[in-house]
Amino acid sequence: MIYITGDIHGTNSVAKRLNTKNFPKQRVLTKKDYVIITGDFGLIWNLDAEDQFWLKWLNKQKTFTTLFIDGNHENFDLLESYPVEEWCGGKVHRLNDSVIHLMRGQVFKIDGFKFFTFGGAASHDKEYRTEGKSWWRREMPSQAEYEEGIRSLERNNWIVDYVLTHTCTINALEWLTSRYGLKYEVDHMHNFFQDIQKRLAYRKWYFGHL
Ligand SMILES: [Fe+2]
Repeated sequence: MIYITGDIHGTNSVAKRLNTKNFPKQRVLTKKDYVIITGDFGLIWNLDAEDQFWLKWLNKQKTFTTLFIDGNHENFDLLESYPVEEWCGGKVHRLNDSVIHLMRGQVFKIDGFKFFTFGGAASHDKEYRTEGKSWWRREMPSQAEYEEGIRSLERNNWIVDYVLTHTCTINALEWLTSRYGLKYEVDHMHNFFQDIQKRLAYRKWYFGHL
């Protein structure tokens, strides 16, 4: 089975979100089942004892494998210090045996389904944050990552089962802003996803952030 959630923001809510009371089905899962977090994972924020505790908790105490894409609130210096590996057809950073970062612009085949992954988003609170300590420019993709995403989709003939992103398309952004009165500026990532949505055949698109 595959379960999807978003934005656990590290130690703030990992225990609450993924404890057996809130997520009882985990009792019957195995490491061949997956919980995917659609960005703002946040558990390699400092790699201090607290982060290490919860990473070990996910690995050793939880029955399932944890997969995540990056959001905007990640420590990209630490995340990118892990070696890049191939896993299920795409590139990953493996934090431990069963906690795995799904990199941007990849297509993974997991449990028979194809997932296109593309993490990252713009922070709207960056004026209150410090570069390299609580905010990283790498929250936004590089040109190479956008191009890799397009190449991956071309290799899959623009057909996948699911899309996993942290932020969303312009359409979704407009719907959310009109419904909830949120104020978000359209940026390059929203445009990129909007273009992809026009061409891509998929069943569902899951995102976090908003
Ligand atoms: Fe976010």
